[in-house]
Amino acid sequence: MADLSTDTAGIQSPNPFWIASGPPGNSLRQVRLAFEAGWGGVVWKTVGGPVIDTAMRYGGLDVYGRKLVGLNNIELISDRPIEVNFAEIAQAKEEFPDRAVVVSLMVETERQAWHEVVKRAEQTGCDGFELNFGCPHGMSERNMGAAVGQVPEYIEMITGWVKEVATIPVLVKLTPNITNIESGALAAKAGGADGVSAINTINSIVGLDLDTWETRPSVNGKGSHGGYAGPAVKPIALHMVSSIAHNPELAGLPISGIGGAHTWQDVAEFMLLGASTVQVCTAIMHHGFRLVGELETGLSNYLDSKGLASVRDLVGGSVERISSFGDLDLNWQVRAKVDPDSCIGCGKCIEVCRDNQVDCIDWENGTVNIGRVAKVDQHECIGCDLCSIVCPVTDCITMEEQPRVLQELNWNGLNAKVGVPGFSDETSGITWERFPAEVAPLVDSHGFHNPSTADTGEPEPV
Ligand SMILES: Cc1cc2nc3c(=O)[nH]c(=O)nc-3n(C[C@H](O)[C@H](O)[C@H](O)COP(=O)(O)O)c2cc1C
Ligand code: SF4
Ligand code: SF4
Repeated sequence: MADLSTDTAGIQSPNPFWIASGPPGNSLRQVRLAFEAGWGGVVWKTVGGPVIDTAMRYGGLDVYGRKLVGLNNIELISDRPIEVNFAEIAQAKEEFPDRAVVVSLMVETERQAWHEVVKRAEQTGCDGFELNFGCPHGMSERNMGAAVGQVPEYIEMITGWVKEVATIPVLVKLTPNITNIESGALAAKAGGADGVSAINTINSIVGLDLDTWETRPSVNGKGSHGGYAGPAVKPIALHMVSSIAHNPELAGLPISGIGGAHTWQDVAEFMLLGASTVQVCTAIMHHGFRLVGELETGLSNYLDSKGLASVRDLVGGSVERISSFGDLDLNWQVRAKVDPDSCIGCGKCIEVCRDNQVDCIDWENGTVNIGRVAKVDQHECIGCDLCSIVCPVTDCITMEEQPRVLQELNWNGLNAKVGVPGFSDETSGITWERFPAEVAPLVDSHGFHNPSTADTGEPEPV
């Protein structure tokens, strides 16, 4: 069985599954249950000054009958006294010395306040800190959380203050509510952070009650924007984690990935894009601590099936696969193919191809007993993949790689061929007038035709 133990910025844990700072990590009672279930670490619910929460504080997004695809919250940091939290954190570390116990901190933007809270928190014996520069609601109105995380200079300054006194690793938790999360990560690094955690919640309004016209959650008739989390945010989180991992100036900066992780596959994806641990909040709020059993079994089996001895072998494995559009091979072709034996004749692929793409799927003549089977006209198919995405039968539509006709060519190469560097319309040499004249065979091969030039050349042979 593969070794699941991990290291994030020097914080060791027996597996990469951490509880993210939030409701599941707000007390010793819960953390005990979590560790007994098998979680490798916890980032304690953020501790700081006194807060008062509202009663209604969550809003769920259900999609087509699936519960909690997204979760909005207007909850603040821990509403338990800071000394109670510290005493329980110390106890948790004592009872579970092999687990990662990280303390999330947020205090007002004063050097002295940060020094004091860090020194006091270190006495708990915790393994590291996570600086919460991410809460997009409530705390940000008090100039903390995202109000700090949206200003790289503040991130650098406060991280620097913490590093002046901290003797254990410091992670900076970044807000996604910023144009480019890399600027936050760069600032954290400049301030001396040992690693970053990404992402915190995304600013959102999850929906309205159409009877009362109140937002959800409604607090006595009024609402406020809140932080969005859960499976729906995973693609945004993956992108942000990968962009940090991909930035050469941030090379080697440890990342704890967060945002919508729910299954072992999600965990593997975060790790392949650069995270060495993965934090989970909403999925635990939905399914409880027992979820970790599925994560552990699934990830172990996956590593064994890949012949990998350690979960660390996953970290960053896909980072180099992320490229810019300009580097993608425009001449690599696939075509959709329907497996007639598994097609149930629902017609969904025909409808979407007709209304969104090139109308190249129809019913096959004389098909099997259930009546009808879809068939793709492969000469017209542009290989967009939409039909296979909507098909309700797994693997019924597959995308078949086509024999190469044209040499590999990407947009950057195409621009170079036309002779003017650049990518945008303003700077590019490729205009609709010039495009076909220069590279007519390529244009032809991509299925759109300029009558004046379409027949001017043969495809360039491989
Ligand atoms: C109800 C709730 C409360 C949260 N409280 C905190 C908090 O106190 N400190 C913090 O850093 N993040 C907090 N978060 C953010 C989570 O730690 C995490 O970054 C976010 O929920 C995305 O992960 P998920 O999709 O697994 O929930 C909270 C999230 C939720 C849903
Ligand atoms: S969507 Fe899938 S199952 Fe439905 S008709 Fe098309 S190929 Fe068949
Ligand atoms: S891949 Fe796109 S173009 Fe081809 S059949 Fe499917 S939907 Fe139509």
